Amino acid sequence: MCFVTRRALDMTSAKIHRAVLVLLLLSPISGLLAQGPVATIRRQLAGDAAIERKINALLAKMTLAEKLGQLQQLDGEASGKYRPEHLVLAKKGLLGSTLNVRGAEQSNELQRAAVEQSRLKIPILFGFDVIHGYRTIFPIPLGESASWDLASIEKSAYIAAKEARAAGVHWTFAPMVDIARDPRWGRISEGAGEDTYLASLIAFARVRGFQGSDFSANDRVMACAKHFAAYGAAEGGRDYNTTDLSERTLREVYFPPFKATIDAGVGSYMTSFNSLNGIPSTANPFLWKKVLRGEWKFDGLVVTDYTAVMELMKHGVASDEADAARLALNTGIDLEMVSRLINAHGERLLKDKKISIATLDNAVGNVLRVKFRLGLFAKPYADANREKAAVFNAEHRKFARESAIKSFVLLKNEKETLPISKQTKEIAVIGFLANDKRNMNGNWSGDGRSEDPVTLLEGIRRKLGNSAKIEFAVGCDTKCEDTSGFKQAVEIAKGADFVVLTVGEDIDMSAEAASRSNIDLPGKQLNLVKKIHAAGKPYVVVLMNGRPLTINWPAENSPAILETWFAGTEAGNAIADVLFGDANPGGKLPVTFPRSIGQIPLYYNALPTGRPFESTNKYTSKYLDIPNTALFPFGYGLSYTTFKITNLKVNTTKLTKKDTLKVWVDVENTGKREGTEIVQVYVHDLAASISRPVKELKGFERVLLKAGEKRSVEIQIKIADLGFYDANNQYIVEDGQFRIFAGANSDDVRDDLIEFITVGK
Ligand code: NOJ
Repeated sequence: MCFVTRRALDMTSAKIHRAVLVLLLLSPISGLLAQGPVATIRRQLAGDAAIERKINALLAKMTLAEKLGQLQQLDGEASGKYRPEHLVLAKKGLLGSTLNVRGAEQSNELQRAAVEQSRLKIPILFGFDVIHGYRTIFPIPLGESASWDLASIEKSAYIAAKEARAAGVHWTFAPMVDIARDPRWGRISEGAGEDTYLASLIAFARVRGFQGSDFSANDRVMACAKHFAAYGAAEGGRDYNTTDLSERTLREVYFPPFKATIDAGVGSYMTSFNSLNGIPSTANPFLWKKVLRGEWKFDGLVVTDYTAVMELMKHGVASDEADAARLALNTGIDLEMVSRLINAHGERLLKDKKISIATLDNAVGNVLRVKFRLGLFAKPYADANREKAAVFNAEHRKFARESAIKSFVLLKNEKETLPISKQTKEIAVIGFLANDKRNMNGNWSGDGRSEDPVTLLEGIRRKLGNSAKIEFAVGCDTKCEDTSGFKQAVEIAKGADFVVLTVGEDIDMSAEAASRSNIDLPGKQLNLVKKIHAAGKPYVVVLMNGRPLTINWPAENSPAILETWFAGTEAGNAIADVLFGDANPGGKLPVTFPRSIGQIPLYYNALPTGRPFESTNKYTSKYLDIPNTALFPFGYGLSYTTFKITNLKVNTTKLTKKDTLKVWVDVENTGKREGTEIVQVYVHDLAASISRPVKELKGFERVLLKAGEKRSVEIQIKIADLGFYDANNQYIVEDGQFRIFAGANSDDVRDDLIEFITVGK
């Protein structure tokens, strides 16, 4: 990647934008990420000078209290209502932003107080966690990422934005772009998985979906890249825990998805709760000053995570509240979420010269800038009619069903157990999750209502009508401590022609503050699977969960397994579509499923060891009790049809650093029905000055093929994207040999799909 030189620091804002534009055009990611960033930056160039003048005019008029008020974000009620105190502050012009206040009526009431009654009429910025849908809920982000379908991911973010903006929300705290290699960490459910390349493309798509090229539009919201940085690397997978990573790992693995959000024009950033190499993110100048503002030239808004300024004391880097406020402000933080230390201590800090007025004005300017960019001064109010028409409409729900179908991953399907014939006379549906609406929304489900989703039981009933006898038994709940329901479950299984068995997690077992030290099926659910297995009828295990699970026994013994994550509003319809063959699953895992918690961290793009495993040599890298390999590797997923990938070709085997490699493979649908294959191209740098991962995804293509159809697929890889960070943390592309290989997943390395290329002068 290219970085902006020191000289750029002295430039005016417009010049910086021009420089970024030029650099973007030259940068490797510009090709990869198409025209998006360029379009965004052009628009801002035109508008920025006028906005800067308005910001300066306001700053000149503001009192210190009004400035500090702009740096405060307060929490509304869970229901979406504002609190009485908000109204009082808004009238005095002392409230910059809220979170969770939503709905046209509620937000307009509070906005009116700010815009019509306060001295300077500065509008309030309404933020909300619109993570995978506002009211129409799409699959959880990890699930949606399993589609590898960037257009679909962008569209669901767009629909979420459309609903949210109509309901008065200007700003979503999404996307979460934290790379996560540890399935114990509950928030793995909120991201795009373990792979930097895939996650960067998804990060870009999500930001574009939320913001478009102009987030002042009445169907867009400002996005927020979070949590900068390395939050997903929490030690032991325990949420909020500390992280310690080399600068190279940060730049190579954890930063690129954040950089992709910058290229997509993201309007805001959020700090993370963790400390990074000993310094909490909210007080970490390397992150905010050096990288974000310095190298990436970000001029948007930085918000802290919830009470993160206050937590600087618990981290042990601030001696008291004022010290915490000082640290955060001097690090370049703008808006304080929920805790009020900047507000409470700002005046004193100024008097004591512990912060400067320039620092304060800079933070206020950043808040005002995004309010201008959002068009809030011109159009501060939501339109209740628009809200009625946009939120949870039939078109959005239709798309939620399509996006859910794309997120499912078929993990096993022995002897074509699936799809289930629609002629089946008696079907047993078993498991708490099959008949529970609330869980289908997944965690962080915006304004989604627990009564909204379609359950799997409902989905199957709707699909089959009266043509089949459908019986339901709960078996046990998700904690599965009480097994008294097993008996009835086994009885209905025995009487059925086919059994649909749902197992997995409760939504509260993943997402924030929901780490697990054991990622087996919770409680005694595995016993339920074994009992249903013993009933002797054909069955499918339908998984619902927010993270990879260790499911060795079902993987070995159950005839079919379908991973459905938490699929959102249309979960039941979408799962029934797939189970009964109206849709063909085509998702691929965006994250490794380990065999054992003891293997963690287990990710496909690991560095080689000097002693790779050899079965005949004791002194090689291995476990005594289990294989090194994944249970299901990154990129894995089956279909109801079969595919053959053959004939890997490259345009040339000798390239320079400026060249683009073209890789072609033939993909053939060798089965009996239409289906989607996701062809993946991996690269390995054979010898470099820094040890390189054994494989890295560098390109993929989703290919929809009719039965019997064969197509040649072209995947382009810029040689400039095959570099890495050297010992001085500078990005370089070295001369040398690379192995290029294609396959249907990260473990599918076949001798006939390999080519070697040489990069040199
Ligand atoms: C805490 C979470 O870490 C963050 O992701 C979220 O956006 C805020 N709370 C606001 O709800």
